Amino acid sequence: MTSAPVPRPGILDIAPYIGGESKAAGVARPIRLASNESALGPSPNAVAAYRALAGDIFRYPNGSAAELRAALGRHNGVDPAQVVCGSGSDELIGMLIRAYAGPGDEVLYSRHGFLMYPIGAMSVGAKPVAAPERDLTADVDALLVHVTDRTRIVFIANPNNPTGTYLSADELARLHAGLPKHVVLAIDAAYAEFVHRNDYEPGIGLVNRAENVVMLRTFSKIYALAGLRLGWAYCPPAIADVLNRIRGPFNVTAPALAAGVAAVEDVAALAQARAHNEKWLPWFSDKLAALGLELTPSVGNFVLPRFPDEPGRSADAAFDFLQARGILTRKMGGYGLPKHLRITIGTGEEMETVAAVIAEFMAQER
Ligand SMILES: Cc1ncc(COP(=O)(O)O)c(C=O)c1O
Repeated sequence: MTSAPVPRPGILDIAPYIGGESKAAGVARPIRLASNESALGPSPNAVAAYRALAGDIFRYPNGSAAELRAALGRHNGVDPAQVVCGSGSDELIGMLIRAYAGPGDEVLYSRHGFLMYPIGAMSVGAKPVAAPERDLTADVDALLVHVTDRTRIVFIANPNNPTGTYLSADELARLHAGLPKHVVLAIDAAYAEFVHRNDYEPGIGLVNRAENVVMLRTFSKIYALAGLRLGWAYCPPAIADVLNRIRGPFNVTAPALAAGVAAVEDVAALAQARAHNEKWLPWFSDKLAALGLELTPSVGNFVLPRFPDEPGRSADAAFDFLQARGILTRKMGGYGLPKHLRITIGTGEEMETVAAVIAEFMAQER
Protein backbone atom coordinates (compact mmCIF):
# COMPACT_ATOMS: atom_id res chain seq x y z
CA MET A 1 0.00 0.00 0.00
CA THR A 2 1.27 3.47 -0.82
CA SER A 3 0.76 6.24 1.68
CA ALA A 4 -1.03 8.60 -0.70
CA PRO A 5 -3.82 8.28 -3.29
CA VAL A 6 -2.59 7.14 -6.70
CA PRO A 7 -4.45 8.11 -9.88
CA ARG A 8 -5.25 5.55 -12.55
CA PRO A 9 -2.41 4.51 -14.90
CA GLY A 10 -1.63 7.10 -17.55
CA ILE A 11 -3.01 10.14 -15.73
CA LEU A 12 0.40 11.36 -14.55
CA ASP A 13 1.77 10.97 -18.10
CA ILE A 14 -0.54 13.78 -19.24
CA ALA A 15 1.25 17.06 -19.87
CA PRO A 16 -1.33 19.59 -18.61
CA TYR A 17 -2.87 21.84 -21.28
CA ILE A 18 -1.37 25.30 -21.09
CA GLY A 19 -3.73 28.07 -22.18
CA GLY A 20 -2.63 31.23 -23.93
CA GLU A 21 -1.03 33.99 -21.87
CA SER A 22 -3.27 36.87 -20.82
CA LYS A 23 -0.74 39.23 -19.24
CA ALA A 24 2.46 40.96 -20.36
CA ALA A 25 4.69 42.39 -17.63
CA GLY A 26 4.41 46.15 -17.35
CA VAL A 27 1.64 46.45 -19.96
CA ALA A 28 -1.81 47.46 -18.71
CA ARG A 29 -3.77 46.37 -21.80
CA PRO A 30 -1.84 43.83 -23.84
CA ILE A 31 -2.88 42.91 -27.37
CA ARG A 32 -4.20 39.41 -26.78
CA LEU A 33 -3.75 37.18 -29.83
CA ALA A 34 -3.02 33.90 -28.07
CA SER A 35 -6.39 32.12 -27.81
CA ASN A 36 -8.31 32.68 -31.08
CA GLU A 37 -11.02 34.72 -29.42
CA SER A 38 -13.07 36.68 -31.96
CA ALA A 39 -11.66 40.16 -32.59
CA LEU A 40 -14.95 42.05 -32.38
CA GLY A 41 -16.16 40.63 -29.07
CA PRO A 42 -19.63 39.19 -28.45
CA SER A 43 -22.98 40.41 -29.76
CA PRO A 44 -24.24 43.25 -27.50
CA ASN A 45 -27.50 41.29 -27.30
CA ALA A 46 -25.62 38.33 -25.80
CA VAL A 47 -24.01 40.59 -23.19
CA ALA A 48 -27.42 42.12 -22.37
CA ALA A 49 -28.99 38.65 -22.02
CA TYR A 50 -26.15 37.61 -19.72
CA ARG A 51 -26.61 40.71 -17.55
CA ALA A 52 -30.38 40.30 -17.47
CA LEU A 53 -29.92 36.93 -15.82
CA ALA A 54 -27.93 38.29 -12.88
CA GLY A 55 -30.95 38.48 -10.56
CA ASP A 56 -31.86 34.86 -11.25
CA ILE A 57 -28.60 33.04 -10.66
CA PHE A 58 -29.96 31.40 -7.51
CA ARG A 59 -32.11 29.23 -9.83
CA TYR A 60 -30.89 26.09 -11.53
CA PRO A 61 -30.63 26.40 -15.31
CA ASN A 62 -32.91 24.52 -17.70
CA GLY A 63 -31.09 21.18 -17.63
CA SER A 64 -31.97 20.23 -21.18
CA ALA A 65 -30.92 23.56 -22.75
CA ALA A 66 -34.23 23.41 -24.61
CA GLU A 67 -34.40 27.03 -25.76
CA LEU A 68 -30.81 27.09 -26.96
CA ARG A 69 -31.18 23.78 -28.81
CA ALA A 70 -34.30 25.13 -30.51
CA ALA A 71 -32.43 28.29 -31.60
CA LEU A 72 -29.50 26.21 -32.86
CA GLY A 73 -31.96 24.01 -34.73
CA ARG A 74 -33.61 27.01 -36.44
CA HIS A 75 -30.37 28.66 -37.45
CA ASN A 76 -28.42 25.60 -38.52
CA GLY A 77 -31.13 23.46 -40.07
CA VAL A 78 -30.65 20.66 -37.53
CA ASP A 79 -33.05 18.70 -35.33
CA PRO A 80 -32.87 20.12 -31.76
CA ALA A 81 -33.47 16.61 -30.39
CA GLN A 82 -30.08 15.63 -31.80
CA VAL A 83 -28.23 18.55 -30.19
CA VAL A 84 -26.40 18.17 -26.87
CA CYS A 85 -24.95 21.28 -25.23
CA GLY A 86 -21.81 21.33 -23.13
CA SER A 87 -19.65 23.56 -21.00
CA GLY A 88 -17.46 24.39 -23.98
CA SER A 89 -16.74 21.88 -26.69
CA ASP A 90 -13.90 20.70 -24.43
CA GLU A 91 -16.52 19.10 -22.19
CA LEU A 92 -18.15 17.40 -25.18
CA ILE A 93 -14.79 16.07 -26.39
CA GLY A 94 -14.24 14.59 -22.92
CA MET A 95 -17.77 13.13 -22.78
CA LEU A 96 -17.40 11.45 -26.16
CA ILE A 97 -14.11 9.88 -25.12
CA ARG A 98 -15.51 8.77 -21.77
CA ALA A 99 -18.53 7.21 -23.46
CA TYR A 100 -16.78 5.38 -26.28
CA ALA A 101 -13.18 4.67 -25.23
CA GLY A 102 -11.49 3.07 -22.26
CA PRO A 103 -8.31 1.30 -21.20
CA GLY A 104 -6.60 -0.43 -24.12
CA ASP A 105 -8.65 1.40 -26.76
CA GLU A 106 -7.16 3.81 -29.28
CA VAL A 107 -8.21 7.37 -30.08
CA LEU A 108 -6.92 8.47 -33.46
CA TYR A 109 -6.21 12.06 -34.49
CA SER A 110 -3.95 13.86 -36.90
CA ARG A 111 -0.45 14.80 -35.81
CA HIS A 112 -1.04 18.49 -35.21
CA GLY A 113 -4.65 18.13 -34.12
CA PHE A 114 -6.12 19.89 -31.09
CA LEU A 115 -4.32 18.85 -27.88
CA MET A 116 -7.47 17.95 -25.97
CA TYR A 117 -7.85 14.76 -28.07
CA PRO A 118 -4.70 13.04 -26.74
CA ILE A 119 -5.25 14.51 -23.27
CA GLY A 120 -8.84 13.17 -23.21
CA ALA A 121 -7.70 9.76 -24.43
CA MET A 122 -5.03 9.47 -21.74
CA SER A 123 -7.47 10.55 -19.06
CA VAL A 124 -9.52 7.37 -19.61
CA GLY A 125 -6.51 5.06 -20.06
CA ALA A 126 -6.91 4.91 -23.86
CA LYS A 127 -3.96 5.30 -26.19
CA PRO A 128 -3.76 8.45 -28.33
CA VAL A 129 -2.54 7.59 -31.84
CA ALA A 130 -1.31 10.41 -34.07
CA ALA A 131 -1.42 9.92 -37.84
CA PRO A 132 1.14 11.92 -39.85
CA GLU A 133 0.02 14.95 -41.85
CA ARG A 134 0.97 16.25 -45.25
CA ASP A 135 1.89 19.95 -45.46
CA LEU A 136 0.43 20.51 -42.00
CA THR A 137 -2.92 19.17 -43.27
CA ALA A 138 -4.75 16.05 -42.09
CA ASP A 139 -4.05 13.16 -44.46
CA VAL A 140 -7.05 10.87 -44.96
CA ASP A 141 -4.95 7.96 -46.23
CA ALA A 142 -2.57 8.18 -43.28
CA LEU A 143 -5.50 8.31 -40.85
CA LEU A 144 -7.10 5.25 -42.42
CA VAL A 145 -3.79 3.32 -42.32
CA HIS A 146 -3.66 3.93 -38.56
CA VAL A 147 -7.13 2.52 -37.84
CA THR A 148 -6.81 -0.78 -35.92
CA ASP A 149 -9.18 -3.21 -34.16
CA ARG A 150 -8.76 -1.03 -31.08
CA THR A 151 -9.70 2.31 -32.64
CA ARG A 152 -12.87 3.71 -31.08
CA ILE A 153 -12.90 7.40 -32.06
CA VAL A 154 -11.27 9.44 -34.81
CA PHE A 155 -11.04 13.17 -34.08
CA ILE A 156 -10.59 15.62 -36.87
CA ALA A 157 -10.58 19.35 -36.22
CA ASN A 158 -11.90 20.95 -39.38
CA PRO A 159 -10.49 23.53 -39.85
CA ASN A 160 -7.69 22.45 -37.58
CA ASN A 161 -6.25 24.41 -34.70
CA PRO A 162 -3.35 25.32 -34.77
CA THR A 163 -2.55 24.77 -38.46
CA GLY A 164 -5.62 26.54 -39.95
CA THR A 165 -5.85 23.95 -42.74
CA TYR A 166 -9.02 22.02 -43.61
CA LEU A 167 -10.35 18.95 -45.37
CA SER A 168 -12.97 19.34 -48.10
CA ALA A 169 -16.41 17.76 -47.70
CA ASP A 170 -15.34 15.10 -50.21
CA GLU A 171 -12.21 14.24 -48.27
CA LEU A 172 -14.19 13.99 -45.02
CA ALA A 173 -16.71 11.73 -46.75
CA ARG A 174 -13.81 9.57 -47.97
CA LEU A 175 -12.45 9.35 -44.42
CA HIS A 176 -15.87 8.35 -43.15
CA ALA A 177 -16.35 5.77 -45.91
CA GLY A 178 -13.05 4.10 -44.95
CA LEU A 179 -13.89 3.76 -41.23
CA PRO A 180 -15.54 0.71 -39.68
CA LYS A 181 -19.14 1.52 -38.72
CA HIS A 182 -18.53 1.11 -34.99
CA VAL A 183 -15.82 3.82 -34.94
CA VAL A 184 -17.05 7.31 -34.02
CA LEU A 185 -15.89 10.07 -36.37
CA ALA A 186 -15.86 13.30 -34.35
CA ILE A 187 -15.66 16.37 -36.59
CA ASP A 188 -14.63 19.31 -34.44
CA ALA A 189 -15.78 22.35 -36.41
CA ALA A 190 -14.89 24.99 -33.79
CA TYR A 191 -13.92 27.48 -36.52
CA ALA A 192 -16.58 26.53 -39.09
CA GLU A 193 -18.23 29.96 -39.19
CA PHE A 194 -15.01 31.61 -40.37
CA VAL A 195 -14.59 29.38 -43.43
CA HIS A 196 -15.43 30.77 -46.86
CA ARG A 197 -14.74 27.85 -49.19
CA ASN A 198 -17.17 26.22 -51.59
CA ASP A 199 -15.84 22.74 -50.92
CA TYR A 200 -16.20 23.03 -47.13
CA GLU A 201 -19.02 21.62 -45.00
CA PRO A 202 -18.95 21.60 -41.19
CA GLY A 203 -20.23 18.03 -40.97
CA ILE A 204 -24.03 18.39 -40.69
CA GLY A 205 -24.60 16.42 -43.92
CA LEU A 206 -22.47 13.53 -42.69
CA VAL A 207 -24.23 13.41 -39.31
CA ASN A 208 -27.58 13.29 -41.14
CA ARG A 209 -26.64 10.26 -43.16
CA ALA A 210 -24.49 8.23 -40.77
CA GLU A 211 -24.90 6.66 -37.36
CA ASN A 212 -21.29 7.16 -36.29
CA VAL A 213 -20.55 10.84 -37.01
CA VAL A 214 -20.69 13.69 -34.48
CA MET A 215 -20.09 17.38 -35.23
CA LEU A 216 -18.80 19.62 -32.44
CA ARG A 217 -19.23 23.40 -32.39
CA THR A 218 -18.36 26.15 -29.95
CA PHE A 219 -19.46 29.62 -28.88
CA SER A 220 -15.88 30.45 -27.88
CA LYS A 221 -14.60 31.51 -31.28
CA ILE A 222 -16.75 33.53 -33.70
CA TYR A 223 -19.43 34.19 -31.06
CA ALA A 224 -16.73 35.43 -28.66
CA LEU A 225 -18.25 33.88 -25.52
CA ALA A 226 -15.19 31.84 -24.45
CA GLY A 227 -15.49 32.99 -20.83
CA LEU A 228 -19.00 31.56 -20.52
CA ARG A 229 -17.99 28.05 -21.68
CA LEU A 230 -20.57 26.91 -24.21
CA GLY A 231 -20.42 24.35 -26.99
CA TRP A 232 -22.75 21.95 -28.76
CA ALA A 233 -22.69 18.58 -30.45
CA TYR A 234 -24.91 17.52 -33.33
CA CYS A 235 -25.27 13.75 -33.11
CA PRO A 236 -27.20 10.79 -34.46
CA PRO A 237 -30.08 10.10 -32.01
CA ALA A 238 -28.35 7.12 -30.35
CA ILE A 239 -25.18 9.09 -29.63
CA ALA A 240 -27.20 12.08 -28.32
CA ASP A 241 -28.92 9.62 -25.98
CA VAL A 242 -25.55 8.34 -24.73
CA LEU A 243 -24.17 11.85 -24.11
CA ASN A 244 -27.35 12.87 -22.29
CA ARG A 245 -26.94 9.90 -19.95
CA ILE A 246 -23.43 10.83 -18.87
CA ARG A 247 -23.48 14.63 -18.81
CA GLY A 248 -24.02 16.55 -15.61
CA PRO A 249 -27.71 17.40 -15.23
CA PHE A 250 -27.00 21.15 -15.27
CA ASN A 251 -23.74 21.17 -17.23
CA VAL A 252 -24.41 24.51 -18.93
CA THR A 253 -24.97 27.60 -16.78
CA ALA A 254 -28.09 29.74 -17.06
CA PRO A 255 -26.18 32.89 -18.14
CA ALA A 256 -24.42 30.86 -20.83
CA LEU A 257 -27.74 29.51 -22.13
CA ALA A 258 -29.29 33.00 -22.24
CA ALA A 259 -26.29 34.60 -23.93
CA GLY A 260 -26.04 31.69 -26.35
CA VAL A 261 -29.62 32.12 -27.56
CA ALA A 262 -29.10 35.87 -28.07
CA ALA A 263 -25.82 35.24 -29.89
CA VAL A 264 -27.35 32.72 -32.29
CA GLU A 265 -30.24 35.07 -33.03
CA ASP A 266 -27.92 37.98 -33.83
CA VAL A 267 -27.12 37.03 -37.40
CA ALA A 268 -25.89 40.55 -38.17
CA ALA A 269 -23.13 40.28 -35.54
CA LEU A 270 -22.12 36.91 -36.98
CA ALA A 271 -21.91 38.36 -40.49
CA GLN A 272 -19.82 41.25 -39.20
CA ALA A 273 -17.35 38.93 -37.49
CA ARG A 274 -17.07 36.84 -40.65
CA ALA A 275 -16.50 39.91 -42.81
CA HIS A 276 -13.86 41.21 -40.41
CA ASN A 277 -11.89 37.97 -40.64
CA GLU A 278 -12.36 37.83 -44.40
CA LYS A 279 -10.63 41.20 -44.64
CA TRP A 280 -7.86 40.91 -42.04
CA LEU A 281 -6.83 37.26 -42.44
CA PRO A 282 -5.54 37.77 -46.01
CA TRP A 283 -4.21 41.24 -45.15
CA PHE A 284 -2.12 39.93 -42.26
CA SER A 285 -1.08 36.75 -44.10
CA ASP A 286 0.21 38.85 -47.02
CA LYS A 287 2.18 41.10 -44.66
CA LEU A 288 3.87 38.11 -43.02
CA ALA A 289 4.62 36.45 -46.37
CA ALA A 290 6.15 39.72 -47.62
CA LEU A 291 8.53 39.58 -44.64
CA GLY A 292 9.71 36.17 -45.84
CA LEU A 293 7.84 34.11 -43.24
CA GLU A 294 6.52 30.74 -44.37
CA LEU A 295 2.75 30.31 -43.90
CA THR A 296 0.28 27.51 -44.43
CA PRO A 297 -2.92 29.01 -45.84
CA SER A 298 -5.36 29.33 -42.93
CA VAL A 299 -9.15 29.37 -43.15
CA GLY A 300 -9.61 30.04 -39.41
CA ASN A 301 -9.20 33.28 -37.42
CA PHE A 302 -5.49 32.73 -36.87
CA VAL A 303 -2.26 32.20 -38.77
CA LEU A 304 0.74 29.98 -38.11
CA PRO A 305 3.93 31.63 -39.42
CA ARG A 306 7.16 29.62 -39.35
CA PHE A 307 10.13 31.66 -38.20
CA PRO A 308 13.67 31.23 -39.55
CA ASP A 309 16.08 28.77 -37.96
CA GLU A 310 18.51 31.59 -37.22
CA PRO A 311 19.59 32.76 -33.78
CA GLY A 312 17.68 35.91 -32.90
CA ARG A 313 15.04 35.27 -35.58
CA SER A 314 13.49 32.11 -34.14
CA ALA A 315 9.89 31.70 -33.04
CA ASP A 316 10.99 31.90 -29.38
CA ALA A 317 12.86 35.15 -30.05
CA ALA A 318 9.82 36.54 -31.91
CA PHE A 319 7.52 35.55 -29.04
CA ASP A 320 9.74 37.39 -26.53
CA PHE A 321 10.11 40.43 -28.81
CA LEU A 322 6.34 40.69 -29.24
CA GLN A 323 5.60 40.04 -25.57
CA ALA A 324 8.03 42.76 -24.49
CA ARG A 325 5.91 45.13 -26.61
CA GLY A 326 2.65 43.95 -25.04
CA ILE A 327 1.64 41.54 -27.83
CA LEU A 328 0.67 38.03 -26.74
CA THR A 329 0.91 35.17 -29.24
CA ARG A 330 1.01 31.41 -28.72
CA LYS A 331 4.09 29.19 -28.67
CA MET A 332 3.57 25.91 -30.47
CA GLY A 333 6.11 23.57 -28.85
CA GLY A 334 3.27 21.59 -27.25
CA TYR A 335 2.01 20.79 -30.76
CA GLY A 336 5.45 19.71 -31.99
CA LEU A 337 5.83 22.95 -33.94
CA PRO A 338 8.55 24.85 -32.05
CA LYS A 339 9.49 26.96 -35.09
CA HIS A 340 5.97 28.39 -35.41
CA LEU A 341 3.88 30.90 -33.53
CA ARG A 342 0.11 31.01 -33.71
CA ILE A 343 -1.30 34.52 -34.00
CA THR A 344 -5.03 35.26 -33.75
CA ILE A 345 -6.65 37.81 -36.06
CA GLY A 346 -7.47 40.75 -33.81
CA THR A 347 -8.93 44.17 -34.56
CA GLY A 348 -7.65 46.07 -37.60
CA GLU A 349 -5.62 48.39 -35.40
CA GLU A 350 -4.09 45.43 -33.55
CA MET A 351 -3.13 43.72 -36.80
CA GLU A 352 -1.47 46.87 -38.13
CA THR A 353 0.53 47.16 -34.90
CA VAL A 354 1.53 43.48 -34.88
CA ALA A 355 2.57 43.55 -38.56
CA ALA A 356 4.76 46.61 -37.88
CA VAL A 357 6.35 45.01 -34.80
CA ILE A 358 7.11 41.75 -36.66
CA ALA A 359 8.64 43.79 -39.50
CA GLU A 360 10.84 45.51 -36.90
CA PHE A 361 11.79 42.12 -35.44
CA MET A 362 12.76 40.70 -38.83
CA ALA A 363 14.76 43.83 -39.75
CA GLN A 364 16.93 43.80 -36.62
CA GLU A 365 20.69 43.65 -37.09
CA ARG A 366 22.09 40.30 -35.96
C1 LIG B 1 -10.33 22.79 -32.55
C2 LIG B 1 -10.84 23.22 -31.21
N1 LIG B 1 -11.76 22.46 -30.62
C3 LIG B 1 -12.26 22.80 -29.41
C4 LIG B 1 -11.83 23.92 -28.75
C5 LIG B 1 -12.37 24.18 -27.39
O1 LIG B 1 -13.33 25.12 -27.41
P1 LIG B 1 -14.26 25.42 -26.15
O2 LIG B 1 -13.86 26.77 -25.67
O3 LIG B 1 -15.64 25.37 -26.70
O4 LIG B 1 -14.03 24.36 -25.12
C6 LIG B 1 -10.87 24.74 -29.33
C7 LIG B 1 -10.36 25.93 -28.60
O5 LIG B 1 -9.27 26.36 -28.75
C8 LIG B 1 -10.36 24.38 -30.60
O6 LIG B 1 -9.43 25.12 -31.19
